[in-house]
Amino acid sequence: MLGPLAARGVTAEPVVWDDPAVEWTAYDLAVLRSPWDYAPRRDEFVAWAQRVPNLANPADVVRWNTDKRYLDELSAAGVPTVPTAWVGPGESWEPSADSGEYVIKPAVSAGSQDTGRYDLADPEHRELAVAHVRRLSAAGRVTMVQPYLAAVDTAGETALLFLAGEQGLEFSHAIRKGPMLTGPDFGVDGLYRPEEITARTGTLEQLAVARKTLATVPGGPDRLLYARVDLIPGPDGQSILVELELTEPSLFLAHAAGAADRLAEAILTRLTRET
Ligand SMILES: Nc1ncnc2c1ncn2[C@@H]1O[C@H](COP(=O)(O)OP(=O)(O)O)[C@@H](O)[C@H]1O
Ligand SMILES: [Mg+2]
Repeated sequence: MLGPLAARGVTAEPVVWDDPAVEWTAYDLAVLRSPWDYAPRRDEFVAWAQRVPNLANPADVVRWNTDKRYLDELSAAGVPTVPTAWVGPGESWEPSADSGEYVIKPAVSAGSQDTGRYDLADPEHRELAVAHVRRLSAAGRVTMVQPYLAAVDTAGETALLFLAGEQGLEFSHAIRKGPMLTGPDFGVDGLYRPEEITARTGTLEQLAVARKTLATVPGGPDRLLYARVDLIPGPDGQSILVELELTEPSLFLAHAAGAADRLAEAILTRLTRET
């Protein structure tokens, strides 16, 4: 990414969001890339974002997008989302009599951390699921319980990447991500989960769901430097939104010809507009 920026005369350097030595006002633009450690201290992260001049994506978008409760809003706007039960901190939860597979994850999360998959037909999994919700609740976190979308095991997850272009936010490329969840979560910290990524062509149906998703972003999609829409086929084969990533998306630039140049061009356009 630094190469395509340098080729356009843009000097860029990686800095860490919570490094107190960084002088944010010294930069014409700050681009969020991989602040993957914010989940346990999201309030601090959002407050930081609000202090940074010229942050991409903007701080109000970061605030809205770092809590997956935005999915309820999107669902109300007609975007196909996973049916989700929300468990607030301090609330108790019992698995239903149902025997299907479920996903338990925190509403504020990144990188599949603290995310587990449970087969409710298995008594041990039922106990582990209760323990997982209790662990998140005790940490003051909101928990999401969703049916496991089994099509991810075969079709994978499709991420559609959008970058700011001349016509506003434009589709750039797509990738396939293999399934991430193998079983229960045991609350072990910081385990990096390897991702299996391959290039993929987005279908017209997926692009339509992505466009509908992006239209719901507060302030509209054209303020965004980048966006990623993650879809998994539902039981009827139609795409379902799993996550809208506007804060810390891996952009998989190496998986598509020209993608890094497109992002560099988008950044250059921002800079010439700001200064
Ligand atoms: N309902 C679900 N069905 C199947 N897989 C899921 C479901 N929810 C999450 N996953 C898997 O867990 C991963 C991480 O969940 P996600 O909601 O994207 O949160 P994060 O912000 O941690 O990326 C996804 O990439 C997907 O592989
Ligand atoms: Mg994700």
